[in-house]
Amino acid sequence: MSVDALAGAAYIVAALLFILSLAGLSRHESARAGVTYGIAGMTIALLATLALTVADAWGGAGAMLGLTLLGVGVLVGAAIGLWRAKVVQMTEMPQLIALLHSFVGIAAVLVGWNGHLTHAEIPAQLVDIHNAEVFIGIFIGGVTFTGSIVAYLKLAARISSRPLMLPGKNLLNVGALVLFVVLTVWFVLDQQLWLLIAVTLLSFALGWHLVASIGGGDMPVVVSMLNSYSGWAAAAAGFLLNNDLLIVTGALVGSSGAYLSYIMCKAMNRSFLSVIAGGFGIVASASDDEDYGEHREVTAEAAAGMLSGAKTVVITPGYGMAVAQAQYPVADLVARLRERGVDVRFGIHPVAGRLPGHMNVLLAEAKVPYDIVLSMEEVNDDLAATSVVLVIGANDTVNPAAAEDPGSPIAGMPVLRVWEAENVIVFKRSMAAGYAGVQNPLFFRENTQMLFGDAKERVEDIIRAL
Ligand code: TAP
Repeated sequence: MSVDALAGAAYIVAALLFILSLAGLSRHESARAGVTYGIAGMTIALLATLALTVADAWGGAGAMLGLTLLGVGVLVGAAIGLWRAKVVQMTEMPQLIALLHSFVGIAAVLVGWNGHLTHAEIPAQLVDIHNAEVFIGIFIGGVTFTGSIVAYLKLAARISSRPLMLPGKNLLNVGALVLFVVLTVWFVLDQQLWLLIAVTLLSFALGWHLVASIGGGDMPVVVSMLNSYSGWAAAAAGFLLNNDLLIVTGALVGSSGAYLSYIMCKAMNRSFLSVIAGGFGIVASASDDEDYGEHREVTAEAAAGMLSGAKTVVITPGYGMAVAQAQYPVADLVARLRERGVDVRFGIHPVAGRLPGHMNVLLAEAKVPYDIVLSMEEVNDDLAATSVVLVIGANDTVNPAAAEDPGSPIAGMPVLRVWEAENVIVFKRSMAAGYAGVQNPLFFRENTQMLFGDAKERVEDIIRAL
């Protein structure tokens, strides 16, 4: 059997493994198997591609140099990837993912340029399609590249996460799209080099502007949207390179990323269209100078007293629990309360933390039983009958302004209605705002008490007091 046929068969197996991987990743219980399928698929795909490359280059002029460069590139890339994966903190994952998407974007741009400059032999009837593919691939890749870099800079707090509000910004985006269509037609008719340079610059500018126009609260959706764009960029590169696996994988990433973005938009009550169109319809919020009154504080000892007298307790964790790495003492506290007959459950908001499933991963790490970890929808109606809610390092996801203040920047985002409980204890270090930068009226409610300090230390204090 020829190397081509073998590689083709290996590609089909790899594509099936990728589909199984996506299916596995959608549930707690099968997530580990999903990751294994993904690794197996990627290993097969890499080996098949390597075999194809070696078979193609063997004996040709400059083959050894090309293969050596390929080997060095793969080794250096793999070493950097392994090192980054080892040192990255869970809370820094979104910015790392954004940075990785930018690589897919720039790779698609380079493949596009290469597709034009190398003048591969193309049957006459396919030349127009080839030229359109070059142009579209560069455009999607360029938007993904700069968009991902801006997302990285915002998530890593290297630039402000406030939305950029250029005058006529929607017109700029629509204008850029129209210009792209005109340039594509022009390029298909007449392959001038300056047209390629123009579309590259246009796509860089559009990617930058699209993501710069989106505010901090919508960034999770943006990361998953860029994931989707990077998939389409890879699929476009697959058409140019005539590589079926790249087309299938790109389409899988593209469509699953778009679907995840849609689910997240629903969870945050954001319009899907407004987010992918670069913050279309977002209005700058007025600065918050409202007087919310006084907040009240509680000590760890008093909190321990409230907990041991409680019938039902719900814990709503957020980003602060991840920063403090408080999940281990939290799991310990839960086990002790359950031993005393207290009914303890967790309520997880879909965008708590900084990446989808963030809190579920942390709680699983600390061996909290799955059956007491509930979603926001499952727990929300029970909160009014709950004795004590512990808000551990969460802020935006428990903000009543989202439900009650139509003028709030997070208005309409579904939240955990913790304020309906008999007592609420909020663990945080200060009165500072959460990720979306809005003040939280929950902290000033009659039934709320603040327990200031690092979440891990305060939970340990409560365990000692118990
Ligand atoms: P946030 O609104 O981000 O608030 C976290 C709170 O934790 C802060 O108010 C902070 O207050 C506190 N905190 C930080 N370090 C702490 C520590 N060591 N000990 C105790 N408290 C600490 O949290 P959230 O409710 O989880 O909301 C998530 C936000 O992130 C949403 O706005 C969401 O849209 C956004 N986002 C989500 C994702 C996904 S997909 N989950 C991705 C990117 C962004 P102090 O500084 O006063 O301690």
